[in-house]
Amino acid sequence: MLTLIKNGRIITATDDYFGDVLIDGETITAIGKHLSVPDGHTVIDAAGLLVIPGGIDPHVHMELPFGGTVSSDDFETGTRAAAFGGTTTVIDFAIQYKGKTFQQTLDDWDARTQGRCAIDYSYHLAVTEYEPRQKKEFQQVVDRGITTFKIFLAYPGVFMIDDQTMFRVMQSAGEAGGMTLVHAENGDAITEMISNLLAAGKVEPKYHALSRPPVIQADGVSRACKVAEVAKAPVFIVHVSCEAAMIELQRSRDAGNPAYGETCTQYLFLDDSYYDKPDFEGAKYVFTPPLVGRSDVTALWKGLKLGYLSEVSTDHCPFNFKGQKELGRGDFTKIPNGGPGVEDRLSMVYHGGVIERGFSLNKWVELTSTASAKMFGMFPKKGTIAVGSDADIVLFDAVKQRTISATTHHMNCDYSLFEGWKIQGEPVTVLSRGKVIVDRGTYVGRAGDGQFLKRGACGKM
Ligand code: URP
Ligand code: ZN
Ligand code: ZN
Repeated sequence: MLTLIKNGRIITATDDYFGDVLIDGETITAIGKHLSVPDGHTVIDAAGLLVIPGGIDPHVHMELPFGGTVSSDDFETGTRAAAFGGTTTVIDFAIQYKGKTFQQTLDDWDARTQGRCAIDYSYHLAVTEYEPRQKKEFQQVVDRGITTFKIFLAYPGVFMIDDQTMFRVMQSAGEAGGMTLVHAENGDAITEMISNLLAAGKVEPKYHALSRPPVIQADGVSRACKVAEVAKAPVFIVHVSCEAAMIELQRSRDAGNPAYGETCTQYLFLDDSYYDKPDFEGAKYVFTPPLVGRSDVTALWKGLKLGYLSEVSTDHCPFNFKGQKELGRGDFTKIPNGGPGVEDRLSMVYHGGVIERGFSLNKWVELTSTASAKMFGMFPKKGTIAVGSDADIVLFDAVKQRTISATTHHMNCDYSLFEGWKIQGEPVTVLSRGKVIVDRGTYVGRAGDGQFLKRGACGKM
């Protein structure tokens, strides 16, 4: 079966031209002018639309057990919402629970995902315990196509590992050809600050932010980068939310180390004033790291422009306000950490980057797709429009004005971080490996269309 996308403006991280894209089955087989297909095959008219590679969100948490509840999007609803937002690949985190081997952890995540995803997917392996005798498991994981490992320097007693384990994981991951992702904070100092706040009766959502000030994130980033330097291993800092942390990353990068990082949509638009919303609504913005000051928002956009931050993910980890966020009324530490976002990322980065700040369309594609494909070992199968690449393609209306709302979004979450925001730009039609899964705003795919994606070498930018 052939599909021809005609007359679109094709944008990749490097190119910008008008042309037609021919797809045979799942793969792009030709790009040119005035291409045609025999009768009976599919022709999609992309006149007036941008034709871009499907978005890649390398940081999501579907159906994650957290804080006594479970994130409200499962793999079916969450990946469908991603598709509506123009994202055709997600990377979730397979979390190693106590006593489980790496392979058991991945088998467990396979059982959750198989037959349920609307789009292609992979996982990072989140290591929560590691003894040197397990070293050979790193190679087995890499051979299985999972080339990224994740560690937490936060959430003591749940996910946090100590600095010795950090060193070991980074070294073993690096030796196996993998890269270590780090949630960088200082979990022990945060525990102490939380105790002090609670003892003083400071229980509202805004104290979540005050218990994790930017300097605490900067400390985590500094430590992670320095340990990676001595372990001689690549490191990737997830959800960088403030300038202080970015400066630590920049220092290591400028010294010539393979130290990379990302930020997330919410940190590019929102600041800590959202915690002052009345009626406990500040809880909607309780995620980790927390929102910080307006000057940090400006610094993060600059970091993206200059390349200190490589891509924009979402850290999509939604919890409903009703019944989930509300668990923390009277104690901010009981508010499940996380927010919705997988559906909004592509459009928000377009609006904030291209429309409001004059970023090029190429840079937008780089930040939302190509950089992640390269960073996480999927390029050129994913992340570009080229002959031989998977036909993950989004037709994007770059002029459409619309209003974001939880009443119209497809994420399984009863609120939106951007409720009522008027933005420009909307994904219209989405193809995943050649199959149309969103057709002019209507979902026409099915659970199980998405496949597990084996990834290769990481950090090759
Ligand atoms: O608040 C967040 N970010 N929840 C998800 C877990 C994590 O730290 O990424
Ligand atoms: Zn995290
Ligand atoms: Zn996360």
